[in-house]
Amino acid sequence: MFHWQEAGERIGGLGHHTRRMRTQVGIVGAGPAGLLLGHLLAQSGVDAVVVENRSRDYVEARIRAGVLEQGTVDLLTEAGLGDRLHREGLRHDGIYLQWPGVRHRVDFPALTGKSVWVYGQTEVVKDLVAARLAAGLPLHFEVTGTRVADLHSDRPTLSFTDAAGVEQVLECDVVVGADGFHGPCRGSVPPSGQRTWERTYPYSWLGILAQVAPSTDELIYAWHPRGFAMHSMRSSSVSRLYLQVDPEEQIEHWSDDRIWDELSMRLALDGWELNTGPVLDKSITPMRSFVSSPMRSGRLFLAGDAAHIVPPTGAKGLNLAVADVALLSRALSAMLRDGDPRLADAYEATALDRVWRTTRFSYWMTTMLHTAGDDDFSAQLQLAQLREVTSSTAAATALAENYVGLPL
Ligand code: FAD
Ligand code: PHB
Repeated sequence: MFHWQEAGERIGGLGHHTRRMRTQVGIVGAGPAGLLLGHLLAQSGVDAVVVENRSRDYVEARIRAGVLEQGTVDLLTEAGLGDRLHREGLRHDGIYLQWPGVRHRVDFPALTGKSVWVYGQTEVVKDLVAARLAAGLPLHFEVTGTRVADLHSDRPTLSFTDAAGVEQVLECDVVVGADGFHGPCRGSVPPSGQRTWERTYPYSWLGILAQVAPSTDELIYAWHPRGFAMHSMRSSSVSRLYLQVDPEEQIEHWSDDRIWDELSMRLALDGWELNTGPVLDKSITPMRSFVSSPMRSGRLFLAGDAAHIVPPTGAKGLNLAVADVALLSRALSAMLRDGDPRLADAYEATALDRVWRTTRFSYWMTTMLHTAGDDDFSAQLQLAQLREVTSSTAAATALAENYVGLPL
């Protein structure tokens, strides 16, 4: 059931046409959060329009997260988005924690009864875009001038100029900012009521995508005196690897050979060898934790990276965006379809509980595994922590429960 109304209206001078439209939920951002929200709302009979300032090719190729929690996989499957995920995704039953001379497997099913899946964010986004377009639901790429207004009235608006140059004003019941960390929506929350918490880490991740079979069956998280390294993957023929680097590093200073040499040193283990191959993509990403409250202001709701960022060491960013959307889709359908505001009123408190628990886990994984200068005392504490996590069932269970994901 999908109905949105168009009330074309000429405003201004010759040839200047503003199209006024009506929808229930105006969604800014076609990342995982915005697209999944649109999908879940459509399934419960709530209309939405999604607007995105980048092109379809760009959002489908943007290389980011790679690990889906069990709860994320279950939700995507129940929402009818699991076909390719179950065909092409790789189920992982653990991770390796490593430091020089030791590689220890943490067994997730044994500790928690759950697993995680390796399936790239690019693939999740492709599946969501394809489903939306196949259903004929509105999705505008390459919009400009996105603006949200009247958020404290009962008719908030989302305005933009579409790819054909037509100005559109969407009159909505609710506007959702799923526009990532750099999007405009968080800035529409009145500063007087807004609070943010931020930690910028003194390191970044240099990430590569390589055309080479993974050298490992599970992801490897490696502590090393030269800095953290990680081995992940996308498929049986594509690997994804990361190196801790200085935040000031420039990617031009890292030839492919230098990257492979450094990875080989930091991931080294007797009797094991790192496969190398052509590098398809390389980039440097800063590491930060960030939380902004409120996640709701009047009829604006924020979801995903628009409201919070975690460093990638716990593989949580995408999963946290999905968790927000699981809550928000239920809250908005209760509010807009059944006239029941209770879940919408509880959204911020419920979402932030998980956000802070995930922020803590991501901080802990990050600070346990990354070296900070030549602080030998901290290094010894990190190694003691790693030995504890790999020798105590209680400590390993705490890691595994967080890694596979808290229940949705
Ligand atoms: P996004 O994916 O950022 O989507 C927001 C969308 O809004 C974007 O498509 C953006 O173009 C759009 N938008 C912005 N402004 C406007 C506007 N004015 N008008 C319309 N649309 C707009 N997580 C991990 O777990 N592992 C990783 O390895 C990892 N790597 C990452 C690397 C980078 C460079 C970044 C930025 C994030 C990474 N993350 C990683 C985090 C994870 O990818 C995010 O948590 C996830 O993308 C959040 O989804 P989202 O939909 O909330 O935001
Ligand atoms: C990835 O595959 O890109 C990935 C996996 C696990 C992480 C971070 C990134 O913790």
